Amino acid sequence: MSRYTAVKGMNDILPPDSLRWSRMEEDLRLLAARLNYQEIRTPVVESLELFQRGLGETSDVVQKEMYVFEDKNGNKLALKPEGTAGFKLALKPEGTAGVVRAFIEHSVGIEKPGPHKLFYIGPNFRYERPQKGRYRQFHQFGLEIFGDPTPEMDAELIYAASMILDHFKVKGEIRVNSIGCPACRPAYREKLIEYFRPKAEELCGDCRRRIDSNPLRLIDCKVDAPRDRWNDIPLITDHLCPQCASDFERLKKALAIFHVPFVVDPFIVRGLDYYVKTAFEITADTGGTQNAIAGGGRYDNLVAETGGAATPATGFAIGLERLLSVVPEDFYGMQPLAMGFALFDGGVADLVHLTKHLSHHPVRYMAEYTPRKFKNALQKANKLGARHIFIFGEDEVKNQQVLYKDLATGDQKTFGQHEVMAIVAMLMDKEIRK
Ligand code: HAM
Repeated sequence: MSRYTAVKGMNDILPPDSLRWSRMEEDLRLLAARLNYQEIRTPVVESLELFQRGLGETSDVVQKEMYVFEDKNGNKLALKPEGTAGFKLALKPEGTAGVVRAFIEHSVGIEKPGPHKLFYIGPNFRYERPQKGRYRQFHQFGLEIFGDPTPEMDAELIYAASMILDHFKVKGEIRVNSIGCPACRPAYREKLIEYFRPKAEELCGDCRRRIDSNPLRLIDCKVDAPRDRWNDIPLITDHLCPQCASDFERLKKALAIFHVPFVVDPFIVRGLDYYVKTAFEITADTGGTQNAIAGGGRYDNLVAETGGAATPATGFAIGLERLLSVVPEDFYGMQPLAMGFALFDGGVADLVHLTKHLSHHPVRYMAEYTPRKFKNALQKANKLGARHIFIFGEDEVKNQQVLYKDLATGDQKTFGQHEVMAIVAMLMDKEIRK
């Protein structure tokens, strides 16, 4: 047992999983580039206030889950269960607020006309109770669009999310809602307070506190499950102002044109306070209770509230741990390993040549330079799970050849040492037909 272990809720990503991770990230980057999103990388640490104001003082993330620290006296990282008072810095719990900060700080929206389409991939930190699919360090891929107020852009964004599901062969359910705007939400909020106050005794401790501070969050409480207990909860979709109602209709119409399958779920309210109008989540069968793999929506007021010029914005993020947990196991097949061996000292130089030549080609290969007997080479290759072996024995060296053996089929063949392209072509052909 190692003397040190990873911090609770924070995971090492090890081979062969790391290969799935890097290929998934590559695919996401390519997808983003195709849709004209450009990458933005923001620091892992931001000012705590950015999140308090952006995500909302009463959101669970800000109230309970922030990693805050001081950067005087040795960068002390600490979680203060009693609150965050006095702390100025925080590890980012999500990507949007930092992107908004950078967007304003570098005058992106002022210097160029929108829409600005940005993407990010990176770690986030929330002090949550770890369980399958819920970690204290987790990773998100996110898309953010600044400068476009239309519900059609929300639909395009949701379409991009659905393309990710399709690409990775993930069956997800896209659930959309409108959570209104500052014109219609206050009245709805009052309706919820009125509805839930007489039921306070039946609610969990958190929800009792939320009745006044954040009544919207009451309706998606996982502990109380109100949607299963009461069937007359006031729904936001019945209380939208004419503008929000018409935007919601446009959203649904555009989604239909994009052929995005979706359901309307009036219980989606999202856990962060910055959303207005369109809100959506994607759920999938992750085999655990954490079945929300992605979430997002419109946040038209966040840029102005963070100190920038009023800029409409919309975006979403997908959790990479949760995405990977639903990507089919065989989606990224590992290319079989090829290995090279020398049977005697005089074969080592030729083996080095082969290594050099194969290193220029997309085949998975490694060499073992300590000479060994044929049988021993086979054993080693088997142990390492290699399928193809290349052998330099005395005959091969004398004839400027290399012996190839396919351990899966038993096929054996001799190549001239200069026939590197033929070797590569054979390996790639077997890879395709495997
Ligand atoms: P969120 O719903 O809080 O939204 O997180 C998005 C996704 O991140 C979740 O659906 C989930 O897959 C993943 N996630 C969140 N917390 C954890 C955790 N503790 N462990 C593992 N995965 C987790 C946001 O963060 C918004 N910033 C999304 C957004 C972008 N809205 C607009 N633009």
